[in-house]
Amino acid sequence: MMAIKDAARWLFFRRRERSTHHSGYDIPTRLMNLTGSGPETFDAISDWHMRSLAEHTPIAKDHYVLEMGCGIGRDAIPLTNIIGPNGSYLGIDIVRDSIKWCQQHISTKHPNFRFVYFDIKDQLHNPAGKRTTTEMTLPTADGSIDRIFLWSVFTHMAEVDITHYLREFARVLKPTGLILATWFIVDQEILAKARTVDLTPFHLRFEHQVEQDCYVNDLAKPMGAVAYTKAAVSRMLEAANLALSVEVLPGSWSGFYSEPKGAQDTTILQLRSTIKQ
Ligand SMILES: C[S@@+](CC[C@H](N)C(=O)[O-])C[C@H]1O[C@@H](n2cnc3c(N)ncnc32)[C@H](O)[C@@H]1O
Repeated sequence: MMAIKDAARWLFFRRRERSTHHSGYDIPTRLMNLTGSGPETFDAISDWHMRSLAEHTPIAKDHYVLEMGCGIGRDAIPLTNIIGPNGSYLGIDIVRDSIKWCQQHISTKHPNFRFVYFDIKDQLHNPAGKRTTTEMTLPTADGSIDRIFLWSVFTHMAEVDITHYLREFARVLKPTGLILATWFIVDQEILAKARTVDLTPFHLRFEHQVEQDCYVNDLAKPMGAVAYTKAAVSRMLEAANLALSVEVLPGSWSGFYSEPKGAQDTTILQLRSTIKQ
């Protein structure tokens, strides 16, 4: 009898998902790993994101905030200490289980934090997805959002899809709004340096040019890491009527810049119509 009880208990604990503790939440490690960095760096990256947002796109307690590619709440969790009841946060991602977890664990405690699943097909994050990015409309009104940010999302997307999201961002952004988005931005010198130093654990060498202004790191998993030239980034911003608010903040990933400001290259954007001449 005892042996059966023990076996049942062992099975129960074995089936329970492994989780990692972060700021009062037990986050499924499996979903954490889908954000490209596991438990070892989750907290440090979260802290870095918060410092970077505070410096470049400060978030106030009454702001309406949108995060695209929110993953498992790395930024939503600390933002619950910043965004008050008169503000709101909307997180969108294409990993159904991550969105469900965020809804069950974050929205229940903070009802002004909303999470929405986009069922977009993506080889890495949602292979069974049914929609394309260009079919999706952001579930929020025109001119309603103060801050939009995306960490390491455009680095997994095709130009046509990025352009679609940028147009949607321009539609929902308030005239005073700001967008923070990270990229891999390259030219021949940057590529040469990246290929020589090979600094990151992902071996970001971008040896495969798939279009005139686009390079991928691994032809078997093209969306695993995608880099664009400066010309491509300018073209996408222009198509969406967005403009750089400050010069691109260079990343450390390529080893090219002597004073990098983050891991990936970061753009701070605003509506083109609001740029002072
Ligand atoms: C490298 S992870 C980063 C996650 C999160 N930003 C973080 O820093 O923890 C990239 C995220 O982008 C999401 N993603 C990829 N393609 C997307 C798309 N077309 N629309 C929205 N999210 C997307 C993935 O599901 C994944 O959660």
